[in-house]
Order: sequence, then C-alpha cells, then structure tokens
Amino acid sequence: MASDDAPMLFNLFSSDPTYRADPDKRLKALREGCPVKRDAIANVVMISRYADVRATVNDRTLVKHPVHARPDSLYGQARMRPDGRPLEQDTTADSILHLDDPDHARIRGPLMQAFYKRAAKMRPATERIVGEVLDGLAGRKSFDMIADVGVPIPILVIADVLGVERGRLKEFREWSEAIILTLNPFATPEQRERVAWAGEMLDAFFMEEMAARRMAPRDDLLTDMVQLQAEGAALSDREIVINCSALLVGGNLTTTDLIGNGVKLLLEHPEQLAALKADPSLINAAVEEILRFDGPIDFTIRVAPREMELDGCPVHKGDPIWTMLRAANKDPAVFEEPDRFDIMRKHAPHVAFGGGAHICIGAPLARMEAQCAIPAIFDRFPNLRLAKQEFVWRALPGFRGLERLIVEP
Ligand code: HEM
Repeated sequence: MASDDAPMLFNLFSSDPTYRADPDKRLKALREGCPVKRDAIANVVMISRYADVRATVNDRTLVKHPVHARPDSLYGQARMRPDGRPLEQDTTADSILHLDDPDHARIRGPLMQAFYKRAAKMRPATERIVGEVLDGLAGRKSFDMIADVGVPIPILVIADVLGVERGRLKEFREWSEAIILTLNPFATPEQRERVAWAGEMLDAFFMEEMAARRMAPRDDLLTDMVQLQAEGAALSDREIVINCSALLVGGNLTTTDLIGNGVKLLLEHPEQLAALKADPSLINAAVEEILRFDGPIDFTIRVAPREMELDGCPVHKGDPIWTMLRAANKDPAVFEEPDRFDIMRKHAPHVAFGGGAHICIGAPLARMEAQCAIPAIFDRFPNLRLAKQEFVWRALPGFRGLERLIVEP
C-alpha cells in the first residue's frame, strides 16, 4: 500500500473536471499502480481491482455506518447530526443505505420482499409511462435526453410503485427532484434548505398515505408495507417513511443516468446501435454493458470493523474502504478489452450495483426501466443524433451522469 502527495480521493471529491472528463484514465493508473491505496487526506483506503472490490462488497463481516469509521476520515467526519445529536446508528434518521445489522436486515428484509414483487409487475406501466414521456416531445427540433426523458421516467415509475395518485404527481415530482440534492456535499445553503423542505413534505405525505392505506388498502407498495407491518414485521412508521424516501434518493438520479449514459454510448457507437436495432433481444445485454462501461455509480463504501489485510496491505479498524466499482468494471483480469463498448460481450459480471448485504435493492427496477426506455427512444426517433455540444458531467461525487444531453430527432 502507498499513499502519495496527490491524493486521488481528494480529486474525486473536489469538483475536479479532469477526473470527470476521463475517470477511466485515472482509475486505470490507480488499479495498475496502487490497487490498495491509502489516501492521505481523506484517510480512507481505496481499492480498484475487480477481485478485491467484489470480495469486499460481498464480505458481510464488514460494516457500513459512518459511526464505525475513524473520526479523522472523510467518511467518519460527521460526528454530529444536523440537529446536534451525536452520530450513532439510528433508524429514525438513517435508511438501509447506511444501517448495519441487525437493523439493516430487519428493515431491508420486508422492504425487499414487497419491492421485488412490485418491480416484477411494473413492465406494462413502465412502457405506458415511457410512451407518454416520449409523446410529450412530439414536434420538438431538439430536446434534452436528461431533463426531458431521463428525469421524469424513474420518478413517474417509482410514483406508480408507491401508489401516488395522479392528482399529487406534480408535487411528488417536485419533492423527489429536490430530495436528490441530499447527495451533494457541496450543496449551497439554499439547496440544503430545499432538501429539508422536500424531506418534511415527503415525510408528511408518506405518513398521510400510510394512514389512508390502513383504512382502504390499495394495490401499491405503501399498502404492502403497512400490511407487512400489521402481519408482524418489526417496522415502525418512521422506518417505512425514511426507507421510502431512500428509494427516491437511491433510485431516481441513478436511473436517469443509466438512460442518459446509455443513449449517449449507443449514439457514439453506431455499429452497436445498428446491432441492437437488428436484434432487439440484445437489449438486456446492452443494458448490462452500459452499466459496466459507464455505470451511474463510481464507488460504494465499507468500513473495517477490525484490524485486517487487503492483498497483504494492512487495513486498520475504522478505515473506510472505498470500493471503486467503476475501476473494477474495467479490470482486464476479468473483462477482455475492457475499454471497448460491446453489447455482445458474453461474460460481463459487473459490480455496478455493488454486492453482498447492501447490493442495490432497485437493480431489477432500474434494469427494467432502461430495457423499456432505450429501445422505445430509438423506435420513436429512428434518426436520433447528438447535437453539437460540450458534454458537462455532473459534479456530484460518486455519480456519473451528464448535466444535459441535447439530441435532435
Ligand atoms: C442504474 C441504476 C442504479 C445503480 C447503478 C445503483 C447502484 C447502487 C449501488 C452501487 C448501491 C450500493 C451497493 C453496495 O453498497 O454494495 C446501491 C444501493 C441502493 N440502491 Fe441503487 N442503484 C440504481 C438504481 C436504484 C433504484 C431504481 C432504486 C430504488 C427504486 C435504488 C435504491 C437503492 C437503495 C435503497 C440502496 C441501499 C441498499 C442497502 O444498502 O441495503 N437504486 N445502488
């Protein structure tokens, strides 16, 4: 292990345009030069080889909540919550994204049971939503694939999963777009106020809707959750609410970027787009290759709960381990010609959704949305092309997506 004077993570976390312009170049250097690297400023350990990343995310003896992280690390810095309470695992404030067992398993179990069943039934509704979003673009000479297509689709789909009524969709969209700013450590004071406002509105909304479902059950995830609770699942109302919000925070922007990055990649690789058009059954493989090649999330985190070693390098109790999913997905030890975008790739066991106990709960829904949206976009606009533009990648740490993607039908 080495640490150096130009700490990588610092660059990843600052709004470094060089990293954003070509993350793979930096990550390749890291993977080849120092696959287990201690970052001297952030006090975290970064790992970038596929085998290490896969083994680490799958290791259920590691933990995730920042309370376990050394206080002088970037991840462990927030020792106090905004309301002044000391940081501790707290199911009234933390979602499954950060919780460890036993709370993580207690809450994730019933949520996953209900969510997977809902996701499996969502394809027809998603096709309708995609169709309606594309209808809204009729007659346009150009449009933004991000704002006009990628943003509304996942919000409308999750609204349908949760059971948000049409009449409340406009406000739900507004809150959902605002709550995502939670993810931005560089948020301005006004943006932070907006997050707090959206959080309060969503909390009140979910509470009200759960009460309504207890009186009159419906065919939606909120009904499933209150029914599981009534049947004995150990879940408080607050825990249901906070984890429904987590579905919005974890799922909306990521799916937006899967669609945006996918459309961009296919337009930049016309031979791949032609192959997909010639054989639509390639869409599932194409979505997996988009996730591998330019996935929406660059890394996820685990914390060492004990003294341990990674590839013979010491990792100390409390060290946050930054698992570089994007670097792992380009590791030539696993992927032949990893820098080639190839939707016909046979063996592509990417780690874009993380792994183990925290593996993305929304993966089946995100995959299905992209599998519906991407072919529908190219069917509706057979001559779609990229407008002349400079690509600006969003300065949101850990996320990989464009500010806008202007296309011409
Ligand atoms: C392409 C789209 C998506 C990508 C790339 C993605 C990626 C990820 C990753 C990397 C993690 C962390 C896994 C780990 O630490 O091992 C995660 C967790 C999570 N994701 Fe996603 N996600 C996507 C879509 C969604 C959707 C659609 C939803 C919900 C509707 C969602 C909800 C969540 C939640 C709640 C967690 C926390 C799970 C836990 O910690 O137990 N994600 N996702």
